[in-house]
Amino acid sequence: MKANTKPSTAAGTKVARKTDAKGSKVNKAWLHDHINDPYVKLAKREGYRARAAYKLKEIDENLGLIRPGSFVVDLGSTPGAWSQYVRRKLSPGGAAAGELNGQIVALDLLPMDPIEGVIFIQGDFREVEVLHILEQTLSAGGVSRKVDVVISDMAPNLSGIESADAARIADLVELAVEFSVHHLTQEGALVVKLFHGGAYDPMVKLFKDTFRTVKRFKPKASRPGSSETFLVGLGLKMPDAAMPGVS
Ligand SMILES: C[S@@+](CC[C@H](N)C(=O)[O-])C[C@H]1O[C@@H](n2cnc3c(N)ncnc32)[C@H](O)[C@@H]1O
Repeated sequence: MKANTKPSTAAGTKVARKTDAKGSKVNKAWLHDHINDPYVKLAKREGYRARAAYKLKEIDENLGLIRPGSFVVDLGSTPGAWSQYVRRKLSPGGAAAGELNGQIVALDLLPMDPIEGVIFIQGDFREVEVLHILEQTLSAGGVSRKVDVVISDMAPNLSGIESADAARIADLVELAVEFSVHHLTQEGALVVKLFHGGAYDPMVKLFKDTFRTVKRFKPKASRPGSSETFLVGLGLKMPDAAMPGVS
């Protein structure tokens, strides 16, 4: 036992060192790319908290999802770039503050610095209690209004184990679809982030079963090497009560 333990510890140390050296090279390369990334520079210039804003911007400019008066739910909103984009889009003059023609409710596991006009809920979207708080917020003041657009950039912490990661991603996407079936207007839209891999085809099928039109997007701002992609569902196929698997 001892004899086995020593070599494996030594080997383990070597492997750990190798990984550290490689890891620091990768980190340096990532940092270099990040600093020189045109979308990072643009985000800084335009006051967005993250370059992610330009992914939603491209999708929105293609499909015209966010319109004056829209009611938008932003899932996985922190640090807040998508909410900032929607907020500006719903301002008559595109301003980050002041008049807002629409409503935005944002939700994330992590805290988010306030954005004027955006209602923020901190919690795990997978938890029933958090869903209830979100639903209560949607019907604040006793008015139960349907949502025009649900945007979800939620991403689990990836473990690198493909089957486990695929299941986690699928779980979040399925919950976003289920939420949308209950809360979107008949002509509403759902945008979700997805990764190529095991969960991709089943999620595309779920979208096709749920929405009348399904679009796939790889925005220019999405890092080229990333397997990240976006699915957009437009118009519910059936009212929620008639949707298969929806209770
Ligand atoms: C890529 S970031 C979102 C960036 C955001 N769209 C923006 O523009 O600033 C993904 C977010 O998803 C959140 N997230 C992951 N799983 C979640 C869950 N189960 N419930 C709520 N938020 C979750 C993470 O905390 C993280 O902040």
